Formats: sequence, C-alpha cells, structure tokens
Amino acid sequence: MSSCKPVRPEPRAEVMAIDAYVPGKSAVAGLAKVHKLSSNESPLGPSPRAIEAFRANADQLAMYPDGSSWLLREAIAKRYGLDAEQIICGNGSDELLSLLAHVYLRPGDEGLYSQYGFLEYPIAIRAAGGTPVVAAETDETANVDALLAKATPKTKIVFLANPSNPTGTYLPFAEVKRLHAGLPEDALLVVDAAYAEYVARNDYAAGVELVSTSQNVAMTRTFSKIYGLANLRIGWAYAPAHVIDALNRVRGPFNVNGAAIAAGVAAIDDAGHVAAAATHNARWLPWLSAEIAKLGVGVTPSVGNFLLLHFPRQAGRTAAEADRYLSARGFVLRGVAGYGLPDCLRMTVGVEAANRGVVAALAAFMAGGRS
Ligand SMILES: Cc1ncc(COP(=O)(O)O)c(C=O)c1O
Repeated sequence: MSSCKPVRPEPRAEVMAIDAYVPGKSAVAGLAKVHKLSSNESPLGPSPRAIEAFRANADQLAMYPDGSSWLLREAIAKRYGLDAEQIICGNGSDELLSLLAHVYLRPGDEGLYSQYGFLEYPIAIRAAGGTPVVAAETDETANVDALLAKATPKTKIVFLANPSNPTGTYLPFAEVKRLHAGLPEDALLVVDAAYAEYVARNDYAAGVELVSTSQNVAMTRTFSKIYGLANLRIGWAYAPAHVIDALNRVRGPFNVNGAAIAAGVAAIDDAGHVAAAATHNARWLPWLSAEIAKLGVGVTPSVGNFLLLHFPRQAGRTAAEADRYLSARGFVLRGVAGYGLPDCLRMTVGVEAANRGVVAALAAFMAGGRS
C-alpha cells in the first residue's frame, strides 16, 4: 500500500530541532503605555543626530545602499582605532553570529558556548548543521575550565558573550585570554561584546587586542544597545582579514540598509550621547540592584544595562506571578525560562520613572499585594 504522506519540500532535520527565538514582549493588552524593559534597549534612545541622519536618508529610498557599508566601517574604525578592512557590518550582530556559524561549522562539528549564553548561539550552531555543546557556568558566570573541558578536536566555533546576556556577568580579560590559549587553533573564538560600552571595570576588555594578535578570534559589537538603534539592525565584527574575507563571500550583498549606515555614522560621531547613556546606566544599575535586593529578590551582579532578578519558589512570589503583576502595571520585563532560569526575570535599566516604578511595584508584590 502506498503511503498517503504528501510529497513536499522538507527542511533539514536540524532546522526543525531549533526552538525559534522568542523576543521580549513589548505590549500589554489593555494598556496604552508601558515601560518596555524586556530587550535591553537604551532608555535614552538614539542620538538626535542619528534621527536627523535617518530622516535625511528618506529621499534615497529608491537607491541601493553601499553594499560595503564603507562610511560606517570607516567611522567605526576611527572611533575604536581599528583597521576598516578588518571590519564587517551586519544586519544586527545577530546576522554576523549566524554567518560565522555557517562559515565555520561543517556537519558534525561542535559549537561551544556556556550555560546561560545568548540563545542565538544554539540557533546559529544548529542552523549551520553543527552540534551545540554547553559548558556549565559557576555563579551564573562563564567558567573557562568548564569550557575548555568541553573543547574537542570537533570544536570549530566558541561563542562567549562578554558581558553575558541574560546574566549580566563578565569574564576579566585575563580569563578570556586563558580561554583562547586553551582552545584548538582551528577553532574560532567569537567574543560577543554587545554590552561592552556599559562595562566600567579595569580588568575588562572587549577583545580588540585578542583579535589583533591572533588568527582565530572575532569580536562582534552592536548599535542596538548603548547607541539606541536596535530598530535599524546594525552590528559589526572586527576579525582577522581571512575571517572578514570569508564572511563577505556569504553575506547578503546589501545587508545593511542606507538609513542604518547614515544613522550609525551620525550616532558614532555623537560621543556625548553615548557618554550620557553610560552615565545614566552607571547611576541606575547600582541603585536598582540595591533597592531590589532589599525586597528579598535576588540580584545577580551585573556590568551590563540589565539585571537578572531571582524570585522565590513560594506561591504568590514566583517569577511568573511577578511577571504578570508587573505587566498589569505597565512594566514589561523578560521571562528567561527559555534560558533554564524559570525563577528569574530580566529587567533592562529604564528611564527614572520606570526604575522607580518597578521598585515600588516589586515592593508591593513582595509584600503580598495582589490587587
Ligand atoms: C549578547 C548579545 N549578543 C547579540 C545580541 C544581538 O544584538 P543585535 O541587535 O546587534 O542583533 C544581543 C541582543 O540582545 C545580545 O544580548
């Protein structure tokens, strides 16, 4: 008897093994205005100069952008003291993370990352046909020994978010160098430094030096966080010339749009705006950490622009209940059960009213308020 199964195009099995990325919520039914604290966006928004540049681009919409993103690469190179030839821009750093996995993983190869690493990593690894391998963290922080213990001759890419999302923890640069030194030379270490601009620690470095002095390290960065341009999707990577060459062969020919290039150039030029965003974060991150900890909610020490909050497993005070309680009051946080952290919520540092409002609402929630 012939099977009744219809013949149709079938995706690769490894694609269907992927759990699609679930972005942070941005709205609450019935509420016209909410504070969106679920996606680590900048509460200060972009530089006014970037908005102006975006608008000025409106009369160019019929024209293809510069496929090499030259002006943006040049601006990044100037700002960070890098060689523009070793920079590639992407449609968000997400695109570059994914392309790196596609370029360096063959079927059966392993892609390594740490326990609470950004959820895009297993997606990128699986989509490329690789096998995700996870190393346990210690105190919600990447553990170099655990990562090295999981490295094998099949490891061809290692993703390290530094600082990490959703934990906000970081590895000192000496530890990143130790990780690099222990990896096989044919494995690419990708240091994802999406939150680098927020970190105020003497022992931290985003990874420029490692890229410059080795052949197997790439650093990814983004305009989505401190530059306040998440909607425009601009990421970039600094990597050895051979890595840039490989990525340029597979990226879309016009992967960054003209408005993004123009706004990105203007944003990077406005150092004052970036400094203001860093100052805002430096004021409110410690305030939120201290105030929330006083309420009996655990707070993982963070160097980013967000906090991982730990709720008790006690009925009436759980993370899921806190999420509903805060949402109903217009504070949208991020559930992180998908990261294996069902007792936690992640909260982005917001504007003053949002920060004070969340603390007041959490105080009422933890005190048992349910109305
Ligand atoms: C660690 C990390 N890497 C990369 C990204 C992606 O950023 P982009 O908007 O540049 O794609 C994020 C965004 O949340 C992130 O948290």
